[in-house]
Amino acid sequence: MKLATRRLVLRDYGASDFEAVHAFASDPRTTAFVDWGPNAEQDTLDFLEFCRRKASEVPRTNHTLAITRDGEVIGSAGLTMNARARRDRAREAEIGYTIRPDQWGNGYATEAAAALIDFGFSQLHLSRITATCRPENVASAGVLQKVGMGQVGLLKNDRLISGRWMDSLVFAIDAVNRSPDPVSADTWSSQAINLVRAF
Ligand SMILES: CC(C)(COP(=O)(O)OP(=O)(O)OC[C@H]1O[C@@H](n2cnc3c(N)ncnc32)[C@H](O)[C@@H]1OP(=O)(O)O)[C@@H](O)C(=O)NCCC(=O)NCCS
Repeated sequence: MKLATRRLVLRDYGASDFEAVHAFASDPRTTAFVDWGPNAEQDTLDFLEFCRRKASEVPRTNHTLAITRDGEVIGSAGLTMNARARRDRAREAEIGYTIRPDQWGNGYATEAAAALIDFGFSQLHLSRITATCRPENVASAGVLQKVGMGQVGLLKNDRLISGRWMDSLVFAIDAVNRSPDPVSADTWSSQAINLVRAF
């Protein structure tokens, strides 16, 4: 599967992505506010195997994709149908993303998240997409606001990160109240998305 945006291509992972993924997944700057990592090599191998397995499931409930720019992997983004969605047949999924540290601040997470949200609503026909981030992770909260998500909750002591329980902000966007183009036109145009599905 591939999603193309103005500057990025989001695509399924392959085994040859190990080095690029491991470089950012083993970096403590990347994992300061998440409950995984810094990765050992086996963790990254397990992650790539998990993505490969999920990509072949029918129906597919997990779209975790490499974010590439000019053919180079610069991060990862995922859209995962959550347990409630599978149990109740609710059309809900959770979004997440990581950009390698030397590429932060270029709007890439916003562009990738907007593409996944557009894919989730237009192709998976989701009714709601959610995300969580730690209150201290101002960059992630900024991304979620820029793609048109609003804060709907606060979970106290939600994640154990580096031995400390941290709160989570819960963000959501619903298909029914979605603005057609929440991200400014100079960074992203939802009309510009070129969707190619290649299972
Ligand atoms: C969170 C993360 C993905 C952001 O990636 P990014 O590509 O740098 O984000 P963007 O450039 O799209 O930033 C979007 C907005 O976030 C805010 N933002 C980004 N970096 C910021 C920073 N260091 N401080 C404050 N706000 C910031 C800004 O509002 C920015 O909008 P602007 O460019 O119009 O000012 C990146 O920092 C990262 O990979 N962190 C580690 C993994 C992680 O925490 N993932 C999220 C888990 S919840």
